[in-house]
Amino acid sequence: MKPVVKWAGGKSKLLGELLARVPDPVGTYIEPFAGGAALFFALAGDCELPEVAQLPAVSGAKKRPSRAKKRIASNSPFAHSLLCDRNEDLITFYTVLRDDPEGLIRALSRFKHDEELYYKVRAQEPERLKPVARAARFSFLNRTCFNGLWRVNKKGLFNVPFGRYKNPKICDADALRRASLALAQTELTVGDFQTATHKARPGDFVYLDPPYVPLSKSAAFTAYASGGFTRVDQDRLRDELVRLRARGVYAMLSNADTPETRELYGDFCAFEVRAPRAINARGSGRGDANELLVVTWGEPGVHRYGVEGGPPSSVRVREEAPAAPIQTLNVAEPAKKRSRR
Ligand SMILES: C[S@@+](CC[C@H](N)C(=O)[O-])C[C@H]1O[C@@H](n2cnc3c(N)ncnc32)[C@H](O)[C@@H]1O
Repeated sequence: MKPVVKWAGGKSKLLGELLARVPDPVGTYIEPFAGGAALFFALAGDCELPEVAQLPAVSGAKKRPSRAKKRIASNSPFAHSLLCDRNEDLITFYTVLRDDPEGLIRALSRFKHDEELYYKVRAQEPERLKPVARAARFSFLNRTCFNGLWRVNKKGLFNVPFGRYKNPKICDADALRRASLALAQTELTVGDFQTATHKARPGDFVYLDPPYVPLSKSAAFTAYASGGFTRVDQDRLRDELVRLRARGVYAMLSNADTPETRELYGDFCAFEVRAPRAINARGSGRGDANELLVVTWGEPGVHRYGVEGGPPSSVRVREEAPAAPIQTLNVAEPAKKRSRR
């Protein structure tokens, strides 16, 4: 399944590389820098819409049909998940999408692609809106703004101009319903990444996709939320990865392949991967960029994917895509069933 928001730094183009390294099964899947959550949605698989999911949400909007719950769990390498992001609008959107998809679809269908309306909606103060209206505002702006970019100023106010799309799909009702099913057993948290990583237990899988270490001073894009992501944050993140490894948590982290990143993660196992880049307003600066995937297992050092330093032994891993047959690597020990919560 594809993400339902457009997101700078979204991982759709690197999915093959990422999926190849996700252990299966895992306890809880945790994504502390969720953004568009491309890996989460890919792992959730292509959820068929059971008829019942198309009915209006039950009042109180919390209860979901247990049939749907079972279906999602059997499609995924995990039973439970946790998505966290510092962006409150984004997490409000996912929460409303999970709990009241039909309310969100109704609210979104009232919008149309119109520049004047865009700036009117942009000027609204999200904190003053009810959750459904706030989620619909977020999704409308995300679908119609320039380059699908979510950028805020120092005061935390969204400041991206109107986009140049001809006929953007403002409300893809079935995609939203499917995403709602995928989120049915997901805990959603607004906050710093450590609020999520602190909850990880042995056998859980954490995918960390932070704002990257800048390739140069001007190349950094870290304005997803006010405050940016500084070198102090990068150090804090590395220290957290050290703690996750010590606790027996499977964690994988993406970052730009820079001398700074190589130094930060020097005593971890890492893989070089090539990622197509597309976030640059003038179009210059597009092109492939090298990234590093750092993992909490394997031999320290930077590897090309394939031989040593692969996924943890005795754990079945996904090959290319979620639908692909499951392959067993490093079968020296028999695959153990990992406990789920
Ligand atoms: C590179 S994006 C993640 C992209 C995502 N993997 C995807 O597939 O779209 C980084 C995300 O981290 C969030 N973020 C920035 N600083 C954060 C922090 N200290 N704690 C948690 N999230 C943070 C941003 O709001 C942004 O959504």
